[in-house]
Amino acid sequence: MRIREKSTLFTAADEVRAMGIYPYFRPIESDQDTLVTIEGKKVLMMGSNNYLGLANHPEVKEAAQEAIRRFGAGCAGSRFLNGTLRIHIELEEELADFINKESALLFSTGFQVNQGVISTLFGRDCAVIIDRTDHASIIDGSRLSFAKTIKFEHNDMTALERVLNGLNGLQGVIIVDGVFSMEGDIAPLPEIVALAEKFDCDVMVDDAHSIGVLGDGGRGTAAHYGVEDEVDLIMGTFSKSLASIGGFIAGDHVVLDFLKHHSRALIFSASPPPASVAAGQAALKIIRREPERREQLWKNTHRLWEGLESINVDRGGSQTPIVPILIGDDLNAFRVCRRLQDEGVFVNPVISPAVPTGRSLIRLSVMSTHTFEQIDMAVEKIDHVLREFDIARITE
Ligand SMILES: Cc1ncc(COP(=O)(O)O)c(C=O)c1O
Repeated sequence: MRIREKSTLFTAADEVRAMGIYPYFRPIESDQDTLVTIEGKKVLMMGSNNYLGLANHPEVKEAAQEAIRRFGAGCAGSRFLNGTLRIHIELEEELADFINKESALLFSTGFQVNQGVISTLFGRDCAVIIDRTDHASIIDGSRLSFAKTIKFEHNDMTALERVLNGLNGLQGVIIVDGVFSMEGDIAPLPEIVALAEKFDCDVMVDDAHSIGVLGDGGRGTAAHYGVEDEVDLIMGTFSKSLASIGGFIAGDHVVLDFLKHHSRALIFSASPPPASVAAGQAALKIIRREPERREQLWKNTHRLWEGLESINVDRGGSQTPIVPILIGDDLNAFRVCRRLQDEGVFVNPVISPAVPTGRSLIRLSVMSTHTFEQIDMAVEKIDHVLREFDIARITE
């Protein structure tokens, strides 16, 4: 079947558009504060990964502008050849120091980090062992590698041990999200590293949602549990707390040097542009300088948890600023998003395959720049809209 014909068969998006509840690609017409303008109206942003509110910080914006003046708009080449600037190296050194690893290596996106690291390091003699709800980029990286990919049930250490028992001589690597991007729960790293030790496996953690959020100084999940030395590789992205775009992998120098010379996602793709690198660098500086931002993020997170509890809404297993609310049916999740937007609150819908069929949810995320009044307002509107759609409050 040719591509036009195949694409014409896809009608689901049009059907949802016709119902007036299409929730994707909603254009934001303002800067990215806690209030954003959509369809000409101010709405409360409760769906951004801009956890520390730094995407709109004057210092971050100024650093991006200054980097453009100094280095230009783009690099016109990959890190490998003409695309490495002084600021790439500086930020790599700063990140390695922050994450407490020997080295760090920048890629153009976090997605490319997972794709480019996993597919490069793990070959036919390996088993890539991943949590069933790991991020899509981890799954794609595993698919691109020649290793055997084995999934285990979400955060289930008995299931993980069962997998490790059946490796049959394959070299195992366990790869997990530190904070799971839909569920908002945290990987049990102490148990994972203990199992890795027992079965002589490597461990890689995706800290996309943990950097700036979890652990001493916002250093991520391994720091949160005090197991930094037991985790071999930590990946992060600039697209959340670091307020920009780009990604990095941190680990031993020798491993990163191997990646520098073999990872196709690094070698055959242009390097992150000066503005993005400088914005990430400025954001990292603020994270280190102003721990009160993280403290406020957690105060706000607790405020939201308590608010939801007060209206009898279960937040599932969420232990972080990512808070899912179970809706169930896909269309209902879209309807709730639309109604909440009409009521002045932006949230994201999550449907299968990101979550199992029938367990669609809306996903809220808290920012340190939210006020308590804004969070209380979001809770009040959620209560109102769930009532309107007669949606059951407690998740199983
Ligand atoms: C857990 C996780 N890993 C990786 C990524 C990819 O990061 P980026 O947005 O930098 O491509 C994301 C972002 O969606 C994520 O949530």
